[in-house]
Amino acid sequence: MPTTYAANLEDVKEAARRIAPYANRTPIMTCATIDAMAGRSIVFKCENFQKIGAFKFRGACNAIMGLSDADAARGVVTQSSGNHAQAVALAAKLRGIDAHIIMPSSSVAVKKRAVLGYGAKVYECDVTEQSRNEVCDRVEAETGAIRISPFDQPEIIAGQGTATLELLEQAGHLDAIVTPIGGGGLMSGTAIAASELDPKLRIIGAEPKGADDAARSLAAGKFIPLTEPKTIADGLRTSTGKYTWPIIRDHVERIITISEEDIVSSMRLIWERMKIVIEPSAAVAVAAILSDEFKGLEGIDKVGVIISGGNVDFDNLPW
Ligand SMILES: Cc1ncc(COP(=O)(O)O)c(C=O)c1O
Repeated sequence: MPTTYAANLEDVKEAARRIAPYANRTPIMTCATIDAMAGRSIVFKCENFQKIGAFKFRGACNAIMGLSDADAARGVVTQSSGNHAQAVALAAKLRGIDAHIIMPSSSVAVKKRAVLGYGAKVYECDVTEQSRNEVCDRVEAETGAIRISPFDQPEIIAGQGTATLELLEQAGHLDAIVTPIGGGGLMSGTAIAASELDPKLRIIGAEPKGADDAARSLAAGKFIPLTEPKTIADGLRTSTGKYTWPIIRDHVERIITISEEDIVSSMRLIWERMKIVIEPSAAVAVAAILSDEFKGLEGIDKVGVIISGGNVDFDNLPW
């Protein structure tokens, strides 16, 4: 009997229809310099041009627009370091409902400002997962709002998969697709869409060495939580979840881990060469395709890379 995952290709297609009136169909871009450096043809799916500056709007929009009117009227609550927070805040604003957002006090200032700008109510917590969950539980109990997970929810996974649906329409055949992995929502949606559309497409993840729980989990064949993340890639400081881990376990060929130095130099390279602003979490996937490990993989000529976001703290640039 085939394994059932949290979402399938039909769910991704339904999400694409649901978010179409609200989300951007983001462009793909190429760069001859980077092709030469990677030794292959690379197609970038530029989710830094998505609403709120990251793919996260896809999942949040799908989850919030899919709520019944009765549930929507209760408002929504979530916890996030930034991009999902902005995504929920904007989708809630578009739906005309309240958004309660729990953000770690260390969140990037530009992300916090944007969340407030969309009219959401922000609650601060400590950076630990425990603190985030405690505050989220309290706000959920006090307000009765519906919880929207940053990654571990079927509607979120299906929504994130819509980037890959578009990428494959725009780029045509790909041999491999690379995404960063935090909680694994982006990778899960990508893997579901890619593997059902083209079972030969190789699915490769990228993680910071300082937050390599998914890489360690894949190597061990069992879920290993992230304990003390140490990385500039603020979107990737999360463990995978009960829905995302099985999808990653069964579909991802390998996860390439990236040093902090390589995250920063890849981010800078894309700014300089492609003239587009990408954030550290997105640069992790760029660094992966430039790594010796990836270059050593045979039979891969054309690669899709999801540039997952572009929300950078300009007051604290890493160079
Ligand atoms: C820019 C960016 N890239 C990647 C990720 C990781 O996404 P996921 O948690 O779905 O793995 C995030 C999550 O916040 C993000 O903001």
